[in-house]
Amino acid sequence: MHLFAVLPLLSLLTPLITAFSSPLPCTGTCTNTHDPALLQRGSDGTYFRFATGGRLPIHTSPSLTGPWTYVGDVLPEGGSSIDNPGADDAWAPDVHEVDGTYYCYYSVSSFGTQDSAIGVATSSSMDPGTWTDHGATGLSSSEGDDYNAIDANLVVQADEGEAHLAFGSFWGDIFTTTLASSLLTISGDASPVQIELNNTGTRPSEGAYIHQRDGSFWLFFSSGICCGYDGDRPAPGEEYKIMVCKSDAVEGPYVDADGTSCLSNGGTLVLGSHDNVYGPGGQGVYADAEYGDVLYYHYVDTNIGYSDGQKQLGISVIDWSSGWPVV
Ligand SMILES: *[C@@H]1O[C@H](CO)[C@@H](O)[C@H](O)[C@H]1NC(C)=O
Repeated sequence: MHLFAVLPLLSLLTPLITAFSSPLPCTGTCTNTHDPALLQRGSDGTYFRFATGGRLPIHTSPSLTGPWTYVGDVLPEGGSSIDNPGADDAWAPDVHEVDGTYYCYYSVSSFGTQDSAIGVATSSSMDPGTWTDHGATGLSSSEGDDYNAIDANLVVQADEGEAHLAFGSFWGDIFTTTLASSLLTISGDASPVQIELNNTGTRPSEGAYIHQRDGSFWLFFSSGICCGYDGDRPAPGEEYKIMVCKSDAVEGPYVDADGTSCLSNGGTLVLGSHDNVYGPGGQGVYADAEYGDVLYYHYVDTNIGYSDGQKQLGISVIDWSSGWPVV
């Protein structure tokens, strides 16, 4: 196509192209951040960050923007007590404080398989050495199941209804199930409910995080290819990006900003590749005392490198003024 033909077309499209703000600055150790969890400890204001890999590394910082320092791990020597391959290489920690106890849900699996299980550890402070691994929650999957039991996210309902774990990755995408009141196991009669499905291609949705706000449930998820960008770069647009859907109830139905059902390929883009940010995902939302709601995630900084070990911590303030989350 001639340049003359392209230019008018581009200017027509410009208003539709979303501009994303850059992540907040980050100092100290901002790498080693795949699938982060992030929260501030109430007792002394220290920020804690958890990430995928090994025994779930813990970093702390006096502020949201750093300096971050590695201080130890969640899981004991040898890894999780779950007897699956991957027990010493846990994934996707999700950490929340409930009634003075910190719960860390994590996944034990191996890449590209459904041989997966979700475990949980607890601590009263989040400091290394204080965590007790309780092992399996009872939520697991194997070949032939509708779902892959990884990427758990605890949802304690603001109205004190039953607590849920959202989870899932590829196959039937994202589900939720109910937890026993101990929060350490799924409830006896739990039966997972599907809440999101992208029925195209490899069904690439995972990494659910449900954030409650003003009585609504906001389902953030990661869509696309997460990893291995240094070996094989996905086709443009097929790398990780962060999507969102909304519902009045934790079990759905969820719809996107256009009203499309999120069980039928719906999802509104929150954050995709832009500038030096590539493949953002593995996200969560934290209601920070200073910044308000922030989206935290990992991304490749194209100025640094594309390998999984080089994933950076990204934090972006969420603007809710349009009614939907914008960063
Ligand atoms: C669904 O998956 C396709 C790839 O098969 C991807 O291009 C598309 O962006 C995804 N949609 C959502 C809502 O995540």
